[in-house]
Amino acid sequence: MFSERKVRILLIEDEDYDVRRIKNTIKPFNDRIILKKIVASGESALAVLEQDKSDYDVVIMDFQIAGRLSGESLIQKIKQIDSSIQIIVVTKMTINITDFEFANRLIEAGAMWYCTKYPGDIEDFIYQPTDFILSIFNAAEKRNLEKEKQKSQKRLDQSIHNILENKQLIGKSDAMARLRDEISKASQTDAAVFIQGASGTGKELVATHIHYLSRRRFDNFIPINCGSLPHELIESELFGFERGSFTGAQAGKAGLFEVANNGTAFLDEIIELPASAQSKLLRFLQEGEIDKIGRTRPVKVNVRIIAATNKNIPEEINAKKFREDLFYRLNVFPIWVPQLKERTEDIPALVNYFMLRFSRDMSREKPVLSEKGMDILRNYDWPGNVRELQNVIQRLILKSDSLISDRNVSDALGSAQGFSGQRDQGYLLQWDAKKIQPLKEVEAGIRKKYFQFVRKHSSSDAEAARKLGLAPPNYYRMCKELGIK
Ligand SMILES: Nc1ncnc2c1ncn2[C@@H]1O[C@H](COP(=O)(O)OP(=O)(O)OP(=O)(O)O)[C@@H](O)[C@H]1O
Ligand SMILES: [Mg+2]
Repeated sequence: MFSERKVRILLIEDEDYDVRRIKNTIKPFNDRIILKKIVASGESALAVLEQDKSDYDVVIMDFQIAGRLSGESLIQKIKQIDSSIQIIVVTKMTINITDFEFANRLIEAGAMWYCTKYPGDIEDFIYQPTDFILSIFNAAEKRNLEKEKQKSQKRLDQSIHNILENKQLIGKSDAMARLRDEISKASQTDAAVFIQGASGTGKELVATHIHYLSRRRFDNFIPINCGSLPHELIESELFGFERGSFTGAQAGKAGLFEVANNGTAFLDEIIELPASAQSKLLRFLQEGEIDKIGRTRPVKVNVRIIAATNKNIPEEINAKKFREDLFYRLNVFPIWVPQLKERTEDIPALVNYFMLRFSRDMSREKPVLSEKGMDILRNYDWPGNVRELQNVIQRLILKSDSLISDRNVSDALGSAQGFSGQRDQGYLLQWDAKKIQPLKEVEAGIRKKYFQFVRKHSSSDAEAARKLGLAPPNYYRMCKELGIK
């Protein structure tokens, strides 16, 4: 039951007589308990622990010792050095043993146990020696458990730190400072957040930061792209179903809301949610309950909702595509993510960040970008925002040598513009014999134009996918690959 290692004790006691009594009490257990150090004051105890807190498991302290520092404040200070160290307090017998208020104060301060000295002149042991010994072993076990807990907490903190490190939010402009401030405020609440902003501005990144900075960070963050799910499946995906609730439902399925329980669900492209799913979502926001298909009683879940769209909400509400009451429930904490052209001073930092990232991915040195090249990037108007910038840099890193010239940049932007649709009606007719491109790139350009054309003539992504004969998840994946989404 007890661990093999000896329990190491720091004793704080200023009277020799009491030191002898404690030594005598633990003598029969010297193979399992060692009195590693004895100090006579609270100050020197703190000095010892600050030097090496991992050398001790349990502190045994006299409650009434000479010196400035004693009692509850000493307990608190020891706990501040290392909260896993366990403290057993020894008090004089003059304390009324039914003084629960006193006992409670000790425990509140952070002590694990307290016992009283034997009244009178018995030198062999302090009062109730068996209790005393057992409490030392219990304290050591608790110390081990708390240390384990600290270790796994540290590992969790580290992994959250790594997640955020890999998903940095770059930019020092005023607009970004405001955004960071909003993220920080939103992460301190549980309120529903509604993120609006043009395509590629970083809405998903903002949602990710809010979750991983919030108290829910150790639970799931579930991003759901409402546009990529076929309408007939969306409710079962979101809310799940019970076994046997319809033909073919041999096994039940937990919906994404259940998977996100205690965490955050990020409902991206929320406008694409069909009407019936909208009313189910509204019910969840009002009652905190979901209606699982085939289940008579609702299921309580605790999920924080962050929704996002790049569409114009008033228009969608006017066109009766989105419920106004649902919008108000979702829009408790609104966040607007600014376009890149509204914060051009962030462009150099973003360029450097992506250059470093993509060079690292390819295990090569970060190339040098000419000043003129940077000027071109700064002055471009970035209709596809940060995602477009990221794609352009990736292309530059793939294609260029250790120095990136302004010509390289114009070429990379040229092909980006070529692929971005509206601006190059004659793209296919303007083939340039001096700039022959690999077939893959030309194909990507044509595909992109065609996707954009079909999307423009469809009322939703789901409809565009249908017209193109693609399953919605494939449609989404291809859009992302083409830099449309
Ligand atoms: N400030 C930023 N710093 C670093 N990377 C960013 C920043 N903003 C966006 N990105 C990156 O740009 C890409 C697009 O961002 P994200 O997917 O969050 O945009 P979005 O607004 O959700 O786009 P869409 O509307 O198309 O879904 C991601 O790879 C993201 O990591
Ligand atoms: Mg997105």
